[in-house]
Amino acid sequence: MRKNIVAGNWKMNTTVAEGVELAKNVNEALKGVTPNCDVIIGVPFTHLTSVNAVIDSNKLGLGAENCADKKSGAYTGEVSASMVASTGAKYVILGHSERRQYYGETVETLKEKTLLALENGLTPIFCIGEVLSERENGTYFDVVKNQIEKSLFDLSAEDFGKIILAYEPVWAIGTGKTASDDQAEEIHAYIRSLVETKYGKEVAENTSILYGGSCKPTNAKALFSKPNVDGGLIGGAALNAESFMGIVTAF
Ligand code: PGA
Repeated sequence: MRKNIVAGNWKMNTTVAEGVELAKNVNEALKGVTPNCDVIIGVPFTHLTSVNAVIDSNKLGLGAENCADKKSGAYTGEVSASMVASTGAKYVILGHSERRQYYGETVETLKEKTLLALENGLTPIFCIGEVLSERENGTYFDVVKNQIEKSLFDLSAEDFGKIILAYEPVWAIGTGKTASDDQAEEIHAYIRSLVETKYGKEVAENTSILYGGSCKPTNAKALFSKPNVDGGLIGGAALNAESFMGIVTAF
């Protein structure tokens, strides 16, 4: 059966010292607690090694927020999937809307990144989601279908089974506007149906689909109560151990 997951996405926030402190606080809060979900933090590249050293990896998973679409070589400033894996990280967030929007990531580059992440034993947390105009003109189903099909549907069923999906409506990210639980459930159920059509019922039932976009302790319970919402990808509220734990314990 699929896992419930709450994953933090710190984005471009915190210095190394602040990040280590935050990770320690989350780690501490998880001591003696058995949450009904896996807990992951996605942190900047610069923080991975130091954060890995202070967390209990049995209770708290560690991920990067991106990786390169190339293996190695003359790509100044890039960080490869094997470099990420060598820090001890087990996850990588891929295809976040901010990467697509501001750094020109395409369905093709994301396909390469996904393959390299999997080759290096990393679990991709693969983000999809529509912008406001696509929500308003009703094309959001086609948008997420295209994002999934073009980047992921050439994977074998075995490899697809390793992916965590995160549906994040761009209009809800960092805006304080959350998708309603019914809006989230509608599209999550649709995403699962796409996976079922391509890979069959078992793979679809085992795929965790997280919701992201202004998820907070106050709205997490209602969102997570929906049958096709298997957790959250948390931005702003993950920058504070208490609010992050408020979402973890919503399960
Ligand atoms: P938010 O970000 O929780 O701050 O809206 C979510 C995300 O971008 O992953």
